Amino acid sequence: MAAEAKTVHSAVVTYASMLSLLSLCPPFVILLWYTMVHADGSIGQTWDYLRQNGLQGFIDIWPRPTVIAWKIIFCYGAFEAALQLLLPGKRVEGPISPAGNRPIYKANGLAAFAVTLITYLGLWWYGIFNPTIVYDHLGEIFSALIFGSFIFCIFLYLKGHLAPSSSDSGSCGNLIIDFYWGMELYPRIGKNFDIKVFTNCRFGMMSWAVLAVTYCIKQYELNGRVADSMLVSTILMLVYVTKFFWWEAGYWNTMDIAHDRAGFYICWGCLVWVPSIYTSPGMYLVNHPVDLGTQLAIYILVAGILCIYINYDCDRQRQEFRRTNGKCTVWGKSPSKILASYTTTSGETKSSLLLTSGWWGLARHFHYVPEILSAFFWTVPALFNHVLPYFYVVFLTILLFDRAKRDDDRCRSKYGKYWKLYCQRVPYKIIPGIY
Ligand SMILES: NC(=O)c1ccc[n+]([C@@H]2O[C@H](COP(=O)([O-])OP(=O)(O)OC[C@H]3O[C@@H](n4cnc5c(N)ncnc54)[C@H](OP(=O)(O)O)[C@@H]3O)[C@@H](O)[C@H]2O)c1
Repeated sequence: MAAEAKTVHSAVVTYASMLSLLSLCPPFVILLWYTMVHADGSIGQTWDYLRQNGLQGFIDIWPRPTVIAWKIIFCYGAFEAALQLLLPGKRVEGPISPAGNRPIYKANGLAAFAVTLITYLGLWWYGIFNPTIVYDHLGEIFSALIFGSFIFCIFLYLKGHLAPSSSDSGSCGNLIIDFYWGMELYPRIGKNFDIKVFTNCRFGMMSWAVLAVTYCIKQYELNGRVADSMLVSTILMLVYVTKFFWWEAGYWNTMDIAHDRAGFYICWGCLVWVPSIYTSPGMYLVNHPVDLGTQLAIYILVAGILCIYINYDCDRQRQEFRRTNGKCTVWGKSPSKILASYTTTSGETKSSLLLTSGWWGLARHFHYVPEILSAFFWTVPALFNHVLPYFYVVFLTILLFDRAKRDDDRCRSKYGKYWKLYCQRVPYKIIPGIY
């Protein structure tokens, strides 16, 4: 772990971000839900309420986790875990880990995604379960997730100490950093149930699609129709999540899975922040059925799909390049590349290829630009009456700029002079010509 710990933020930043995550994020999740659902999406209204009622007012609006909330979470979690374990899928090798291991995964994400949505819509269609129940108990569900995920992170910490699943684990000697950044890279229950695939993909990302559909159904129940703004926003989110599951095996090569250990930072984020914050533009639209008109709706839809496609193509290009060991074409030409060598934590020397053409020749993290723009396009159907729907876009921009820095630092310490050479060839971090 020592080598990995060097690559994340310093202890001071870790303490500061952990403190703020712990103390600010849970109340923020509740305040955001309250503002969207009960205060007309207006920060001013919530602010006035809090000014008049103080701390007691805040305690009063914090929903207690109810039995129905726990039941919904448990049924959903158990269903997703069962799909992860039981649905067939291709055997996929993950990237070589820092300790030189190669985790094996079962690629059944797209099937799980399809089964989940068909089951959810089927339950609604046949009158077995009305998704609006989820919306009506959303605050209680978020509240239960906040507490439940914290306990889950304690379990991860204990498992990391007592029963790690692989040699990609260990303590950095500091309890708080271990808890926050995690102890194990790919913790498993048994040989096959990968916990990070569950938290990040099957619980977190899946909940995004499920809640997007829920918000649509709620608006339909309230108004007898779904506004074009809601339709555009939901379609874009669903295209994005479909793309995610289509490419899920590729996601297993990204920082979240290949580098970030299973701790509070990543797991709490996926279990609580994704369902509550990532879905928030849809949550806002439920009570704000804006009519865009066909032309504007189509423009936004096309622009959003284009951005999602470019983001996908950036990821695909990098992974195709690595998969074929550079023997592919990038934008119709043979790729320009750097052959970089590095040393694993167990002292072995390995080599890796860095792509320096195509999207990866524009900037070192150009793919974050279309990612941020996609989020903008599924938010902009809300138009500009309130700023709160744009919170996710702002948050994502900060997250990805920080991530670009973290990844650059990590790659610099992994590849040394080869990364320096890459930075000379591709000088911009995210926005070509600007940053
Ligand atoms: N919505 C969200 O909250 C969110 C958050 C994060 C990411 N994302 C999306 O998830 C996707 C993955 O992004 P990511 O941030 O995980 O990182 P990524 O860019 O997919 O992966 C970074 C890794 O790729 C390798 N790499 C870097 N430059 C390379 C090059 N020129 N050629 C070949 N390999 C290179 C390095 O790993 P090695 O050690 O293997 O060399 C680096 O650590 C993106 O589409 C991103 O937009 C979304």
